[in-house]
Amino acid sequence: MFIDTHCHIFSEYYENIKEVLNNAKNVNITKVINNGCDNKSNIEVIDLINKHNNMYGAIGIHPEEVDNYYENDLKYIENNLNNKKVIAIGEIGLDYYYTKENKDKQIALFERQLCLAEKYNKPVIIHSREATLDTINILKKHKVTGVIHSFSGSLETAKEYIKMGFLLGINGVITFKNCNLKEVVKELELSNIILETDSPYLTPVPYRGKRNEPARIIDIANFICDLKDISLKELSQITNENIKRVFDI
Ligand code: NI
Repeated sequence: MFIDTHCHIFSEYYENIKEVLNNAKNVNITKVINNGCDNKSNIEVIDLINKHNNMYGAIGIHPEEVDNYYENDLKYIENNLNNKKVIAIGEIGLDYYYTKENKDKQIALFERQLCLAEKYNKPVIIHSREATLDTINILKKHKVTGVIHSFSGSLETAKEYIKMGFLLGINGVITFKNCNLKEVVKELELSNIILETDSPYLTPVPYRGKRNEPARIIDIANFICDLKDISLKELSQITNENIKRVFDI
């Protein structure tokens, strides 16, 4: 039994969401955490979690949306945090990959959402790309916990996040050739990682080129079991305990 802790299951990517969730259930992926990125997807998250038993939600404004959001979009997030199935604020963070020019605006948006997390006692789902130092420094200023989604940094960075009480979200990137992530995960205690697909993106090997979906958690899990020489049952037990430590799911 596994949980996909980070995916984007929206009608713009999937014509039949019920079927996608059933495909997951058929391989024992019993729950998914659907992540919004902007107002449109946040509204869809709320709609979908009210319809689908096994779907939970995270709502937030992604750093790439920093030039496209309105004050009301933050109000919408705040107004929906009392929904029991909204279990985190995410996906939020910093992304300097395309540009650093709007860095100050990104930081301001990130901090406002971290303040909401503190106020409503919700964990956060963090996106950080080419922005490790700023992410660490800003998170340290806030009393929050959560997950560093799609972690692919160095062992040193991993240890820093772990020391701060964060889990590391591991996805299909670990199966990619020429990727250092497996060396890093090999060195980490399993008590620090949780699994995610980031569907529809980051499809694991050998399905590269196809659209990803939560059922593919099983391929990521099998890869990690080989790497750590443990059984699927052990991995599911440990990762589910890790999830429960941080998320009310
Ligand atoms: Ni994502």
